[in-house]
Amino acid sequence: MKDGEILSGFLAPHPPHLVYGENPPQNEPRSRGGWESLRWAYDHVRESIERLRPDVLLVHSPHWITQVGHHFLGVPRLAGRSVDPIFPDLFRYDFGMDVDVELAEACCEEGRKLGLVTKMMRNPKFRVDYGTITTLHMVRPQWDIPVVGLSANNTPYYLDTKEGLKEMDLLGKATREAIRKSGRRAVLLASNTLSHWHFHEQPEVPEDMSKEHPARYDGYLWDIRMIELMRKGRMADVFELLPQFIDEAFAEVKSGAFTWMHAAMGYPQLAGKFHGYGTVIGTGNAVMEWNLQEAGLSRLEETAGVAS
Ligand SMILES: [Fe+2]
Repeated sequence: MKDGEILSGFLAPHPPHLVYGENPPQNEPRSRGGWESLRWAYDHVRESIERLRPDVLLVHSPHWITQVGHHFLGVPRLAGRSVDPIFPDLFRYDFGMDVDVELAEACCEEGRKLGLVTKMMRNPKFRVDYGTITTLHMVRPQWDIPVVGLSANNTPYYLDTKEGLKEMDLLGKATREAIRKSGRRAVLLASNTLSHWHFHEQPEVPEDMSKEHPARYDGYLWDIRMIELMRKGRMADVFELLPQFIDEAFAEVKSGAFTWMHAAMGYPQLAGKFHGYGTVIGTGNAVMEWNLQEAGLSRLEETAGVAS
């Protein structure tokens, strides 16, 4: 079997407002639009995924929280209704997804070999979290590509940030090795917002964009600084600054998806394609892509130090 590939990785944040603004048939609440700068950014992601034709989409979500270890969706077909606990007025979504259980099991096993606590999620009635669903809907609303869903163990919140992110680095390396051995052509999705200061009250009309702006100027400045570094491909600087960014901008990348994704990709010093930026109830969200296939970096070599 040929070695697998990571075709591309996306920073693909999950405010449920984006689904609400789009009015897909799966979501019950209706809107008059809103958050177009982000929703239209996702059109570029959709086009890219259409061109790449991956076998599988892997998504790490901060809102599937597992206190003990890193968990993986492990049921071939999951369906049901997902409701956002914070914005139930915006997100009541009927989902249905096929899971690549074989690859999920391989990720789980490779993680275990690297010393992480890992577990397969086998509950057939499991209600998938809104972060996973929003990201998957925004990148591929057809739901016709199998997925691997990874939980957030949230170690950076319980340990210190650097120690926690080191664990996400291991999870990324384990994911990379599992994809390599599987022969799959994979796309990675880091479901993370940048600065995460937010308003505490929703406008009367949630999609009234005259009320939408960054919650804090310092958070906005941090976002732009980090996006500029990413656009220039200065990823070593991004990772150097990441703990300070997390502390000073209350950034959601703390939950680890961004680190997991770049570790899996081998930390390419590659310019991120900027697809769009916008705020949602004050938080900063960027949609960005590191296209490894275009850069000739998608083939995965056996990594020294990773047990085979
Ligand atoms: Fe979130």
